[in-house]
Amino acid sequence: MPGHPSPTSMGLQFPEGFIWGAATSAYQIEGAAAIDGRGPSVWDTFAKTPGRVRNGEHGDVAADHYHRWSTDLDLIKELGLRSYRFSIAWPRVVPGGSGPVNRKGLDFYRRLVDGLRERGVTPMVTLYHWDTPQELQDAGGWENRDTAYRFAEYAAVLAEALGDAVPNWLTLNEPKTIVQNGYLYGSHAPGKQDQAAAYVVAHHQLLAHGLAVQAMRPHLGPQTRIGPALNLHPCYPADDTPEAQQATVLFDGYENRLYLDPILKGHYPQDVLADVARFSPMSEHIRDGDLEVISSPVELLAVQYYCPIYVTGAGETVRKHPTSEAFWQQIYPEGMYDILTRIKKDYGDIALTITENGLPCPDVMGADGTVQDTGRIAFLRDHFAATHRAITDGVNLESYHVWSLMDNFEWQEGYDERWGLIYVDYASQQRTPKASARWYSGVIDANGL
Ligand code: NOJ
Repeated sequence: MPGHPSPTSMGLQFPEGFIWGAATSAYQIEGAAAIDGRGPSVWDTFAKTPGRVRNGEHGDVAADHYHRWSTDLDLIKELGLRSYRFSIAWPRVVPGGSGPVNRKGLDFYRRLVDGLRERGVTPMVTLYHWDTPQELQDAGGWENRDTAYRFAEYAAVLAEALGDAVPNWLTLNEPKTIVQNGYLYGSHAPGKQDQAAAYVVAHHQLLAHGLAVQAMRPHLGPQTRIGPALNLHPCYPADDTPEAQQATVLFDGYENRLYLDPILKGHYPQDVLADVARFSPMSEHIRDGDLEVISSPVELLAVQYYCPIYVTGAGETVRKHPTSEAFWQQIYPEGMYDILTRIKKDYGDIALTITENGLPCPDVMGADGTVQDTGRIAFLRDHFAATHRAITDGVNLESYHVWSLMDNFEWQEGYDERWGLIYVDYASQQRTPKASARWYSGVIDANGL
């Protein structure tokens, strides 16, 4: 590919056995929203509420992966991916959130998992990527402690059904995004703006994570690993005033330590708890024994890195780098190095996987039928290089999943924002690997840059 760096041009070799992959989530690609017994989720409800999603779009059809899974898996194999991270739709497996299990839903995921293994691709399963069954939401959703117990029951069903074939399990995807987008800004389902509730929701999600770990264990073999998938944001002071530095510490607490500390250290960060108490009764919802549950041992920490945050002395955020097509994403590859090395420093040598990192681009199919997403190639190259440096400095990272395998429903942005390695023409549902996908195949082949 003239003009692009060839895979080994930077002389960066990844460790032998390093695993390259890509990620998706159920609501964003599956479609088939009312097929084979799937129940409604909060995202069906939210997306169909006028004004919530750009162009009134929703996931009823999405990339129709529910029907096209087999040829999608062929593409995964053709590109040379070794790991595929996807999520299971809770409302497909337990349509009401609790109660009867939908066999047809489970069968779909069995086909998917077996299909991956037949193609030599290791499945990595996320139990929950934001599609809370609507019935549970009607009973209070994550504001209701009961939801955590229902989640653990669902987790046990999956572990029992698929535990023999899935070596890596992730409990919750980005609990922070539900807290912030779902309950502070209202830009994601369930669309609330309620500071008091937001941090109760944080605790109940963390509790759900721990209960799920405990509920799954008896069904899993000793080699099977479980962990949370956390979106982490390295936070930096916007300037060198002591005020900015102090504000950054608390900001980091809300962005990172609020989730990492309870899971990996067994306690909440005191500075955040004290601050939260100004506007949320979160602490009243933390019962004796909860932190032991939340800190149930995990073997894997899944890191999702997209961008840094710069904090002023007044606790506001500013930008210092170019912004991508996503309004919230400043592009800063060094942040990847910083967050990975910081985890090692503060949380030890737990095995790490990157389960998301990627860039939205204004991708268009050219007259020649190709999609030249050179910006995405440059972005990935720079983030891979920063990752390589972290590994060289001793970070225990074993795999990297690009977000996303294919274009999909980007939540409140609908289908306009394209994040895929594979271009999806939604009218025909035709898939076309972009230039970045071909480039990525070369990286995987060479296991390096
Ligand atoms: C994080 C989420 O897990 C994923 O669903 C989303 O599409 C990407 N970030 C990009 O915004």
